[in-house]
Amino acid sequence: MQADAVKVIEIRQLRKKYKKSDEEALNGIDLTVYKGEFFGLLGPNGAGKTTTISIICGLLTITSGSVVVGKVDVNHFPRQIRRFIGLVPQDIALYPTLTVRENLIILANCMVFLVNNCMTESKIYYR
Ligand SMILES: Nc1ncnc2c1ncn2[C@@H]1O[C@H](COP(=O)(O)OP(=O)(O)OP(=O)(O)O)[C@@H](O)[C@H]1O
Ligand SMILES: [Mg+2]
Repeated sequence: MQADAVKVIEIRQLRKKYKKSDEEALNGIDLTVYKGEFFGLLGPNGAGKTTTISIICGLLTITSGSVVVGKVDVNHFPRQIRRFIGLVPQDIALYPTLTVRENLIILANCMVFLVNNCMTESKIYYR
């Protein structure tokens, strides 16, 4: 990696201990992802992948360490992170009992879009 490469994710000595657990889920992770890089987070069951991604997305608090996405400290400004992160889940994460439009509204709300915009878009694609 070139010396002037832009860091988009920088994790330092990240530790996470769930309240109901005696052991640490993450015990001091260091990780840097640079702009333009495709980064795969691999590991066996229970290695801490979901915990790490959830922290990066501002969905879980950290026990100690630092996580910076762009220039934003995730631990202090989790809502700011959620405005510009896109998450594609492993499984199809739709509610089967809801309509396509209703699913779109929920997802759009998650991304802090206005409901009105979502309705307009859904009319274009699903009428
Ligand atoms: N809500 C929770 N409460 C207590 N412990 C948890 C919780 N979620 C995960 N853990 C524990 O934290 C560790 C890391 O789990 P995590 O789900 O992050 O791993 P993972 O790499 O995503 O695993 P998998 O490949 O099975 O999805 C495991 O020991 C797990 O049992
Ligand atoms: Mg997982």
